[in-house]
Amino acid sequence: MQQANAYIGTPQNRVDGRAKVTGEAKYAAEFDAPDLAYGIVVSGAIAKGRIASIDTSAALAVPGVLQVFTHENRPRTAWFDHKFRDETAPPGSPFRPLYDDKVIYSGQPVALVIAESFELAAHAASLVRVAYETDAHMTDLDLRRSEAYVPPKKRSGVKAPPSPRGDAEDAFAQAPVKVHAEYRVAIEHHNPMEPHASTVVYGDDGSLTIHDKTQGAQNSQSYVSSVFGLSSDQVRVVSPFIGGAFGSGLRPQYQLFLAVMAALELKRSVRVVLTRDQMFTFGYRPLTIQTVSLGANPDGKLVSIMHDAIQTTSTFEDYQEVVVNWANLLYHCDNVKLTYKLAQVDTYTPIDMRAPGAAIGVAAIETAMDELAYAAGIDPIELRLRNYAEVDEADKKTFTSKELRACYQVGAERFGWAKRNPEPRSMREGRELVGWGMATGVWEAIMQKTAARAVLTLDGTLEVATATTDIGTGTYTILTQIAAETLGLPMAAVTAKIGDSSLPKSPVQGGSWTAASSGSAVQKACQTIREQLFKHARQMDDSPLANSSLEQVTFADGRIQLMSDPTAFVTFAQAMQAGGVDRIEAEEKASPGMLTNMRYSGYSHSAIFAEVRVDEELGTIRVTRIVNAVAAGTILNPKTARSQIMGGVVFGIGMALEEESMLDHDLGRFMNHNLAEYHVPVNADIHEIDVIFVSEHEEKLNPLGIKGVGEIGVVGTAAAIGNAIFHATGKRVREYPITIDKLLG
Ligand code: MOS
Repeated sequence: MQQANAYIGTPQNRVDGRAKVTGEAKYAAEFDAPDLAYGIVVSGAIAKGRIASIDTSAALAVPGVLQVFTHENRPRTAWFDHKFRDETAPPGSPFRPLYDDKVIYSGQPVALVIAESFELAAHAASLVRVAYETDAHMTDLDLRRSEAYVPPKKRSGVKAPPSPRGDAEDAFAQAPVKVHAEYRVAIEHHNPMEPHASTVVYGDDGSLTIHDKTQGAQNSQSYVSSVFGLSSDQVRVVSPFIGGAFGSGLRPQYQLFLAVMAALELKRSVRVVLTRDQMFTFGYRPLTIQTVSLGANPDGKLVSIMHDAIQTTSTFEDYQEVVVNWANLLYHCDNVKLTYKLAQVDTYTPIDMRAPGAAIGVAAIETAMDELAYAAGIDPIELRLRNYAEVDEADKKTFTSKELRACYQVGAERFGWAKRNPEPRSMREGRELVGWGMATGVWEAIMQKTAARAVLTLDGTLEVATATTDIGTGTYTILTQIAAETLGLPMAAVTAKIGDSSLPKSPVQGGSWTAASSGSAVQKACQTIREQLFKHARQMDDSPLANSSLEQVTFADGRIQLMSDPTAFVTFAQAMQAGGVDRIEAEEKASPGMLTNMRYSGYSHSAIFAEVRVDEELGTIRVTRIVNAVAAGTILNPKTARSQIMGGVVFGIGMALEEESMLDHDLGRFMNHNLAEYHVPVNADIHEIDVIFVSEHEEKLNPLGIKGVGEIGVVGTAAAIGNAIFHATGKRVREYPITIDKLLG
């Protein structure tokens, strides 16, 4: 029989689902204030230079316009640029909106118009006239390649490539089977459904309550405090719902600065919402030119891996992500050389986008592995199995768990891989060529120090709280499941409170670490409540549990009962009354185990299989079937986890076939800054996506065995599709997205 209140690992509907579909769930731009004013950002038109003059008179003359802020009348803010650094900032000097007359990227905010209504502000913003003195700019990575450099200062949390091992050059030169090619993944913008927005509610006492579109309420809060010199109790950021972010909300974006600046100056509430085209005026997934060299013996065993990446960053910060470390993590090899360099272009600083580094690095490696499979005449899965890495060879550590073999096997079976004829162009249906391809996915299982509070009240309800956000991943739901199960309560008796800077400390939601981090903290806080409840229960007069220990009882349905005799129990209410308390509160921190991290490597893995159909004459590509077999430790909620993997796969389909932010290098500007010209997959692009969670016993990373599922779904997907396209057509395209022109060209 299923144990009562056993929720971990069971499919559960989102606890916030009703609020979301009824519109009760409020997003940053939906919060109101009686004194609300509206801000519209004027975006700059040149990539580099200075503002020679800015004429705001026509805008100011519009009745209802309250102020136009520019660098000329900007209120004072922190002077030191390090005050603008947020918890995820890469090394460098963060962008400071309206700081001075300098223009350092196209689309830079140059003015903020505040008016009594949104429409008035938008109209007035169109009347602001800016004259520029332009300097020569450079946005073309190809022309900056020769100036690429190894970032002198490492971004915290980002692993630099390990030092070379063996002699990769020599081993490659002598290898009988070789692949050597350049791969590219286009620049992408995150394009979450909800654009970035901040509603700043100005309190009677001058304090600010800010509803920000962010992946970290406390990150936004400390940024605002630091930049505007406010004490932390004057600023509270409340962001209960986030309409997708994918990394774009990891850093406070400029609309937050502008809305706060205006609110403080005008002493009233202000909302600033970016337009869809302005969503292309800050961080993006950087363009990366990757060169991969794989050398192998005729049996397919790798003797050399070389992976070099050159990636764009801005002129003011050294953005970094882990691009080249994945091949040797997946595949055993004694001769390995990996390099990672940056080159500066005149755009905003790139920002993490779903599985930063891995999404593009693995796309290159797994395409190259497919090429090697053909070069050696070995089945792609067999090739991967022959090179399977049993340990993390770079770090000389064993894996906490790794069921990648099972992913290959289970995924292949479900997909029907055994029926594949390896010959390209060997399958056809009607006017379409059919292709089957596969790839591996990998992502780090990360845990971050996080605090959580739990409060149990006499009426039998439990509230758990931590500052982390829910960017749509299902955080509310999994925290509710963990709390309910730990304390033996129905899920309906539990409320999760998150997305509020005043709650216990949590890092930004990112890196797929939230479930492991805040989940562990919530579990610990609930365990402390268990102990206290049990203490009260034992001390009760004539307690049936008087002689028992915590190990001898279960918590279920609001009772503590003896395992050996379920008729001997104390209800939570009885225990609390006996202890003379009407609430029990506990706050606990969960941290990654230092010893675990020293001895082990924790990663989630996947095997992705793709079927494509290519119209030979038109070059149109349909991804008709995806099977993604994922091993990611404990799957807390197969229903929400499946959504995460599906979302990741859709992201991967976008990367493989559609998504590309196009720079006009003459203008130094992203040109397709709208959803008509920047293509994200729509329902018509999506066919069957079959998600399999491969059972993986994980016990080292955290007590619940959580690895996280937010990002693994995108990793490898583009390569699986690219490999399927090669199988269908015999044409190898090494630049993602694989668009019709590249396929037919
Ligand atoms: Mo993720 S790119 O860490 O939101």
